[in-house]
Amino acid sequence: MEKLIINDGGRLSGTVRAGGAKNSVLKLMAAALMAGGPCVIHNVPDISDVHSMVEVLSYMGLPVTFDRGTLDIAPADDIRCEVPYHLVQRMRASVEVLGPLIARYRRARVAMPGGCNIGTRQIDMHLKGLNQLGARLGVSHGFVEAEAEGLTGAHIHLDFASMGATENLLMAGVLAEGRTVIENAAKEPEVTDLVDFLTGMGARISGGGTSTLVIDGVDSLSGVEHTVIGDRIEAGTFLLAGAITRGEVEVTGFNPGHLEIVIDKMGEAGCRLDVGEDRISVSVPHGVSGIELSTLPYPGFPTDLQPQMLVLLCTAGGTSFVTENLFENRFMVVDEINRLGADIKTKNHHAIVKGVPSLSGAPVSAPDLRAGAALVLAGLIAEGTTEVYQVQFIDRGYERFEEKLNSLGAHVRRTTV
Ligand code: EPU
Repeated sequence: MEKLIINDGGRLSGTVRAGGAKNSVLKLMAAALMAGGPCVIHNVPDISDVHSMVEVLSYMGLPVTFDRGTLDIAPADDIRCEVPYHLVQRMRASVEVLGPLIARYRRARVAMPGGCNIGTRQIDMHLKGLNQLGARLGVSHGFVEAEAEGLTGAHIHLDFASMGATENLLMAGVLAEGRTVIENAAKEPEVTDLVDFLTGMGARISGGGTSTLVIDGVDSLSGVEHTVIGDRIEAGTFLLAGAITRGEVEVTGFNPGHLEIVIDKMGEAGCRLDVGEDRISVSVPHGVSGIELSTLPYPGFPTDLQPQMLVLLCTAGGTSFVTENLFENRFMVVDEINRLGADIKTKNHHAIVKGVPSLSGAPVSAPDLRAGAALVLAGLIAEGTTEVYQVQFIDRGYERFEEKLNSLGAHVRRTTV
């Protein structure tokens, strides 16, 4: 068990580079299950979720090495088409192997994910879509069990633009016979990265980045070499760290086009953002003011930056109204931020944030990954010392988080509890 100890350290300044996108690479690793040749993936962040996915693939029998930001995944003819409970429980994204397993190996046995700290997180749309493609599915003793003689293309309309369901069905569709159309597909840049990865393997997909994906099935897929897109959520977290400390921070290594609404909302709150080709710098010339904000699927404001944005709004001049539309428990962080002296009230999926002049350090506990990052950012401006417990959540998605913050002038250190 470890904790982060943060001492208020004034304004952050300098440049930091975002790593590869967690929410892209995990799906690319699942897609590698379908490759007939080796897959080489560059710009892979050294985070615990990637190690968990390495464990999932290794458990199934795929030879995987991960060295200095590059994953090498070799193909295997026969694998164990199963993911046990302890691996799914550690990381729900493990269910993304369902589509690839059914498509290539025609069978899968994957532990049913339970709820997680940010909400209930059903997989009903994944299962319904796979069924439409011809898989026979059942849930028995806590496992999704699936088999198929072969998948056949289908017209699938998602009730909600779920990222995970879109990706699972996209991967299943590339090896299905005939045409699959996914309507109301998720448009997140990570989905487009998966489309590019699959296309590099020989898949035939059009409509990446739009709400209609059209997939013409192929018989087999090859290996591919691919570089993961930069992590827009990590980039946004560091930009918000700069703004929260009223510093001047530049973040590189990602596509600013992926953060358009975040740029708009931070601008509305009074931040100045200079946007380059693969970089954004932030400063706060005249203070932060309250705004209204709702999370929505891409290109809407990302739920994965909502807790960090709350921290910025805590010390705004005025009141902000924040609505969370994706995950019912994403406001669990509010009680912890309030322990630092913030004034946030929630009702259902709405939060009212009244700006306060300052925060004060306290021990707090990270309820999940993004909430943990947000608490560290709050600690940067809280007077005195803040201790953030449950650091393992932060390590799931941020590579060398404290090291990167310290390179900008923060005072964050890790210690055992
Ligand atoms: N949903 C259903 N049924 C389904 C699928 C989803 O009801 O079959 C609901 C969920 O319960 C949730 C909403 O739809 O309320 C959105 O879920 P979605 O499927 O889009 O999310 P996800 O694929 O499970 C990914 C990211 C999350 C990110 C969300 C939203 C990964 C590994 N995870 O989850 O990232 O918040 O999309 O953008 O890609 C994080 O990085 O901290 C994180 C939680």
